[in-house]
Amino acid sequence: MSNVITRAATGAFDWLNARAPGLMPMYRKHMSEYYAPKNFNFWYYMGSLALLVLVNQIVTGIFLTMNYKTSAAEAFASVEYIMRDVEWGWLIRYMHSTGASLFFIVVYLHMFRGLMYGSYQKPRELVWILGMLIYLVLMAEAFMGYVLPWGQMSFWGAKVIISLFGAIPVIGQGLTEWIMGDYLPSDATLNRFFALHVIALPLVLLLLVVLHLGALHEVGSNNPEGVDTKHGPKGNRWSKTAPTDTIPFHPYYTVKDLVGVGFLLIIGAFVIFFAPAFGGLFLEHDNFTEANRLVTPAHIKPVWYYTPYYAMLRVVPDKLGGVLVMFSAIAVLFTVPWLDRGKVRSIKYRGLSYKIALGIFAFSFIYLGKIGSGPGTDQTETYIGRVLTVCYFGFFVFLWVYTFFGLERTKPVPERVSTHD
Ligand code: HEM
Repeated sequence: MSNVITRAATGAFDWLNARAPGLMPMYRKHMSEYYAPKNFNFWYYMGSLALLVLVNQIVTGIFLTMNYKTSAAEAFASVEYIMRDVEWGWLIRYMHSTGASLFFIVVYLHMFRGLMYGSYQKPRELVWILGMLIYLVLMAEAFMGYVLPWGQMSFWGAKVIISLFGAIPVIGQGLTEWIMGDYLPSDATLNRFFALHVIALPLVLLLLVVLHLGALHEVGSNNPEGVDTKHGPKGNRWSKTAPTDTIPFHPYYTVKDLVGVGFLLIIGAFVIFFAPAFGGLFLEHDNFTEANRLVTPAHIKPVWYYTPYYAMLRVVPDKLGGVLVMFSAIAVLFTVPWLDRGKVRSIKYRGLSYKIALGIFAFSFIYLGKIGSGPGTDQTETYIGRVLTVCYFGFFVFLWVYTFFGLERTKPVPERVSTHD
């Protein structure tokens, strides 16, 4: 019996290979003969987890679309219908809403890993730039998705954020109306956001992810030591030409990544089954009420993953100034590969000042997130927010000054990523 199955499988494989001879070399290049450093740690789970969440969003999104109604009159009720009447609809919706927050948690950890290990440095600048484009598109994708249930926060959040474009001199007002297709978020806005959320941006996102991985596989992965894997005379155990201290991505990292997948699924299931709104962080309380253009919620605030930027917008007294600061906070991340002239990649071998600066940067971002999710009426908090905004931008200034003028005292970097074979 097993012989018959083996022969059938080999036959099918040969058939496919004869008709698509390019598939096997591609599989080898990106999986079984993609040699990755053997010292990946916890932080290296995040890339594959981001892929998993992306797939989750696409699959659950397809099922939500089957019952969602794209119209301002029906959208809210159709989501309620999904939650109450559609078989397993509640599960699909919570998988999608929880997935959105998990996506950002994973991506923020993934980006922080890049900053810690200098993964954006030469030759991986393109990997970083493509990652940043993914981050931008992801923010737009999540923003438009949040408008679709047409709750109070969908409506008022959309109004506040789209109105920001109104701060641009001359074209601002026209641009705001052009984006909304109306003077307020309306049926027209909902329809275009649906089109962008469901098909246009996911396609862009998928394309960018393919390019991101393609760019990474051209130059190879960095690792927690931040040193290049060396080509020894003997190669590694699997290949004479592969760098020493590397292992094939498949099966070693595919299996290791499954451990991360297990943890993410446990955390995800816990949230979905026990705390899907997550105390109003993942699904805001105001969004359980239908959009009403005559009633403004007491506190309009975006979902947690935007709140650090929202805080920066609010603590700057001038509207245009706030908008500029907010967009610059994202834009400056694109320039990191060129700001950092450091001689070593990994935080392990960088100077103490860099470690402190990165710590302050991370703290500022998180605390700004807390400020951005509050009502914004506390004057002391506004002052703290200003200081933290300066700290946020200060990190980038520091990075350039510190490395450009050679002020960094680094530790000796090891020759190889690992001392054992
Ligand atoms: C949908 C979102 C994303 C997906 C699916 C994704 C996927 C991946 C995967 C699978 C890897 C290889 C495994 C790993 O190193 O963890 C990777 C590496 C990398 N990603 Fe992403 N990524 C995403 C977003 C981002 C963002 C937003 C950035 C930064 C702006 C970024 C920067 C990087 C860098 C620098 C590397 C190389 C890391 C190294 O070799 O040390 N990625 N990404």
